[in-house]
Amino acid sequence: MYINVAVLKETQAHERRVALVPAIIPKLIKLGAKLHMQTGAGAAIDLVDAAFENVVFMADRNALVRDADVVLAVQPPALEVINAMKEGSILVSFIYAHNEPALVKRLIEKKITCFAMERVPRITRAQAMDALSSQAALAGYYAVQLGSTHLARVLPKITSAAGSLGPAHVLVMGMGVAGLEAIATAHRLGAIVEGYDVRPETEEQALSLGATFVNTGVDARGKGGYARELSAEEKTKVGAVLTKHIQAADLIITTAAIPGKASPKLISHEQVAGMKAGAVIVDLSAEGGGNCEDTRPGETVKLGGVTIVAPLNVPSMLGEDASELYAKNQYNLLALIMKDNVIEIDWSDEILAKTVLTHAGENKASASKKEDKGDKAARPDAPAARPTKSTPATSS
Ligand code: NAI
Repeated sequence: MYINVAVLKETQAHERRVALVPAIIPKLIKLGAKLHMQTGAGAAIDLVDAAFENVVFMADRNALVRDADVVLAVQPPALEVINAMKEGSILVSFIYAHNEPALVKRLIEKKITCFAMERVPRITRAQAMDALSSQAALAGYYAVQLGSTHLARVLPKITSAAGSLGPAHVLVMGMGVAGLEAIATAHRLGAIVEGYDVRPETEEQALSLGATFVNTGVDARGKGGYARELSAEEKTKVGAVLTKHIQAADLIITTAAIPGKASPKLISHEQVAGMKAGAVIVDLSAEGGGNCEDTRPGETVKLGGVTIVAPLNVPSMLGEDASELYAKNQYNLLALIMKDNVIEIDWSDEILAKTVLTHAGENKASASKKEDKGDKAARPDAPAARPTKSTPATSS
């Protein structure tokens, strides 16, 4: 007996990541996996097929998934892939169900058990599976690199015989995982760093990473460690405090997000117009519309002397490291359901119960929204735990 695991080649434009890297192969085999991959799955990060030992490569995507017990991917797979998958099999991938109604419908129709990586709860035990965090940390690091290449100045203080150059001022807005990594990176590079967030607990985190904290006097703690939307009055109060920090910055990195909502606007047209000539904004929230009113998602624009960089899918730009961390996240999740060459899902395990999106012909996200009116502590769309066990068929 073995568990037939298939890994897809990503097809979305600019997606360089792959859901399996060579280092994870022996670990999955130990759990009972027989590994199959789509030809060229690692090519975007220069991992040739031969680098994946003990993996059977198949060019035909439909044939690859047809017999698979478990299909692994980074981005939501194409509808055709779901159509080709066998009924009752398992899909593990980022899905973002609100963007993929047709895909979710098909997953339900085919009774596929889908674990959506973005639904892994933000609890201590699940940290090793938390792909949102692993990918956000890389994005936070890369935002500083990206911003510095658009600056016509250095980040650290540099002293030469001709005189000294003072350090750059970096403002990080939104101090979740990405923001904290951006602070740490900018600080390591010698910049003077300020951090701002609407969750007051981030002050201590900013200070511990060598930044100062911009206190706007607004506390917008929401549920489960996330932020809530600000009222119009709070926005005015925050804007008044932030303007002088925005205008003093050489590099601003914005990462603010509120689950299920468009990115909050933290920098107005007027504030951009008042920024220093040569300043740069790297807007990591471009996917949700951006934190700056002048952001154009996926583009780099110059307004007056200010450059606004709004990259999409930043983790993919660091495809090698992003794949390694993502593959580890997925392996750690799979280790909860793959044991002794069989799949066994313990629905009383909070991680599995909250990560599952579809199972046995049901949409677990919407089912749990109805049941879970009281405590939504983990994620706003988290399904409630169900104390049942199921064992999908495994290959023999
Ligand atoms: P996120 O991507 O949802 O948001 C980024 C940041 O934007 C957050 O810090 C949020 O407070 C901030 N924000 C929202 N609206 C804002 C506004 N108007 N102005 C300024 N900042 C604003 O955050 P992420 O990285 O997904 O983290 C969310 C929460 O999950 C955090 O509390 C984090 O500490 C927690 N977490 C917990 C983990 C665990 O294992 N216990 C692992 C990872 C994250």
